[in-house]
Amino acid sequence: MITKLVKSDPGCPDRAVMKEAGDIITKGGLVAFPTETVYGLGGDALNPESSKKIYAAKGRPSDNPLIVHIADMEHLPAICESVPENMIKLAEVFWPGPLTMIVKKSDLVPKETTGGLDTVAIRMPDHATALEFIRAAGGYIAAPSANTSGRPSPTLASHVKDDLDGRIEMIIDGGEVGIGVESTIVDLSEGTPTILRPGYVTREMLERVLGDVDVDRTILSGNSTQAPKAPGMKYRHYAPHGEMTIVEGDSEEVVRVINENVAAAKASGRKTAVLCTDETKPFIKADVIKSAGSRADEHEIARHLYRILREFDDEKADVIFSESFSADGFGQAVMNRLLKAAGFNVKKI
Ligand code: TXA
Ligand code: MG
Repeated sequence: MITKLVKSDPGCPDRAVMKEAGDIITKGGLVAFPTETVYGLGGDALNPESSKKIYAAKGRPSDNPLIVHIADMEHLPAICESVPENMIKLAEVFWPGPLTMIVKKSDLVPKETTGGLDTVAIRMPDHATALEFIRAAGGYIAAPSANTSGRPSPTLASHVKDDLDGRIEMIIDGGEVGIGVESTIVDLSEGTPTILRPGYVTREMLERVLGDVDVDRTILSGNSTQAPKAPGMKYRHYAPHGEMTIVEGDSEEVVRVINENVAAAKASGRKTAVLCTDETKPFIKADVIKSAGSRADEHEIARHLYRILREFDDEKADVIFSESFSADGFGQAVMNRLLKAAGFNVKKI
């Protein structure tokens, strides 16, 4: 299959391109598209064959459910058993936006889309191209992140091409995404609302609307015996090929320990890479040195994180060291992704 790559101005999508992309979906094909978080790999959420194709293209286990993306509130009730009050409240504040809500599904949503579960994850992305594409495709797009399973999520169309060229019909290139880590997932299907995956929308932001919100305990800990409630969170995601260690502690000490470890790895003939910040970059010595941005700006760090992990792969780094970041607020999402990339391998000093 030849994958067609088309550009779309993120704020002002081209109608002809959207129609072409929508037609691919209604005929059962797959289209990768930009959102405000990461690129998605879209198929018709109501067509079981499309969902099967998504799993096959990504090499993803089919027990890992997909998120259904919608563009308009009137499309919501048809895919939910009922629309909970909490969902309406959150949608009013955070949709369109980087929040995915899990509720009981209706019969319209095939089990192939929900990985066999009787719940469905739903999101309305805050991205004009994504919204127009969803509408052109009939209103319901099932989309995981558009990476092959186990690689960092794509933040550029070129990342999608690297992973999925020849396996899908089209890639819509809307430039670099704005946020850079996947949406917050909150489970509203039973009991207290619970965050299953941290993202741009933080616990504090959700609590302002709902009152008490729980956080799945597996999010920042690698040695929990509990299984995560979002099936996808159990896989070693976002992993670069190199062996990765996060070094946590006082900034000057972190630089010293990273440099020491880099020197030892180099001495054994291994290629070294360091993920650092603008503040520490001048002091780091390694084969490949990449700053994710200023320590003071967690949004900048989030936006660059996955691209840098991919670049370490391109550079064939054997050993990777990273600074640690604050896990407050949106920082929790950044640290969650970094910890998973490192397989929870943290050196505390
Ligand atoms: O920002 C995002 O959410 C991006 C863009 C493309 O929208 N999508 C994304 O999808 O990150 P994906 O498939 O890579 O991650 C979806 C996560 C997985 O961990 C999956 O297990 C979980 O959501 N999930 C989906 N449906 C679920 C359900 N019914 N119950 C529990 N977890 C669910
Ligand atoms: Mg993913």
